[in-house]
Amino acid sequence: MYKNLRNKKILVFGNSGFVGSWLSIALHCFKSNILGVSLKMTNKNYISNTNQFKKSIKTLNCDINNLSKITKKIQKFNPEIVIHLASQPIVHEGYRNPEKTFKTNLFGTIQIFELIKKIKSVKKVIVFTSDKVYLNNYKTLTENSNLGGLDPYSASKSCQDILSQSYNSSFLNKDMIIIRSGNIIGGGDWGSNRLIPDIMNSIKKKESVKVRSINSTRPWLHILDVINGIILLVSKKTNSDQTNIYNLAPRKQNQVKVKKILVLVQKILSTNLKILIKKNKIKEKKYLKLSSKKIYKDLGWKCKLGLKKSLDLTIKLYLTKRDKLFDKTKEQILVFFN
Ligand SMILES: NC(=O)c1ccc[n+]([C@@H]2O[C@H](COP(=O)([O-])OP(=O)(O)OC[C@H]3O[C@@H](n4cnc5c(N)ncnc54)[C@H](O)[C@@H]3O)[C@@H](O)[C@H]2O)c1
Repeated sequence: MYKNLRNKKILVFGNSGFVGSWLSIALHCFKSNILGVSLKMTNKNYISNTNQFKKSIKTLNCDINNLSKITKKIQKFNPEIVIHLASQPIVHEGYRNPEKTFKTNLFGTIQIFELIKKIKSVKKVIVFTSDKVYLNNYKTLTENSNLGGLDPYSASKSCQDILSQSYNSSFLNKDMIIIRSGNIIGGGDWGSNRLIPDIMNSIKKKESVKVRSINSTRPWLHILDVINGIILLVSKKTNSDQTNIYNLAPRKQNQVKVKKILVLVQKILSTNLKILIKKNKIKEKKYLKLSSKKIYKDLGWKCKLGLKKSLDLTIKLYLTKRDKLFDKTKEQILVFFN
């Protein structure tokens, strides 16, 4: 499968994080030649902190706002494809530290594009934004819906999205693809104030699970479906110098309330969690409905994993010991793509 990815030189910004580590391992399975640029994740539980990951995926630890230090190394690598995932990705952190959020998501993105200007070999650029880029008016969101994230994180992603389109149309003229994805679940995510990591951390610490927005509905997607979408877009023949935009959304049945996720997780773990409902101090929309008809029509992508299966796979990895994490993640990838 994906024979065209063999030996393909792919530069991945943000490869040490949740999405980036899965993507790196998948591309490694397809024998691509990957170079990652990321900050080191401070939590040792991230897959990127395992010895196997460090041995298999070449990573340069560098802030995207300070790329001059590694420009020569990247130029020497001569990437054909650049995937940009490096972000401050947490809504709560956006409220705590808006300056850092805009600096990373906006100015960091500019630094990446300025670097791409200097690399002739780059043909395709993929920028991962979010479903939160949209002005959520409670209608089903398609790629043509208006942008307008309100909280600092969402606003920074809306800006990143517009900025990417502007840079491509004004300077880069590459085959650029912007991916706007729903909420992703899967093993190896330790981001704070995200539902599944919060549940698993509370279990570890034998504490109650603190939950906000229990009645909020979100589009829950398994990381394998997301990686499948990214890889389909990476392997799509490059024949454009324009920006194409695609939503990645789960099936309708996976667009459920937080409380449904809690019920399913308790079933899988055969346990009753102590749940503490916290007042949500930040503004979040009650529901967000995303459509991915466009990527289905253009590339036949659709979400393969149902919610129960997605949560099963997720919990399995959270219960895996650190020294087996890389192999077990790889196993889930190989089974999925087989
Ligand atoms: N996880 C989700 O549910 C979700 C949903 C939609 C969109 N996204 C987007 O996906 C992308 C990846 O998110 P994630 O969940 O993997 O987050 P993550 O926090 O797990 O990973 C973020 C990555 O960005 C890197 N990074 C952050 N600041 C950096 C800096 N200044 N310089 C260099 N690298 C830096 C980190 O080192 C890490 O590799 C982000 O753009 C996020 O906005 C995530």
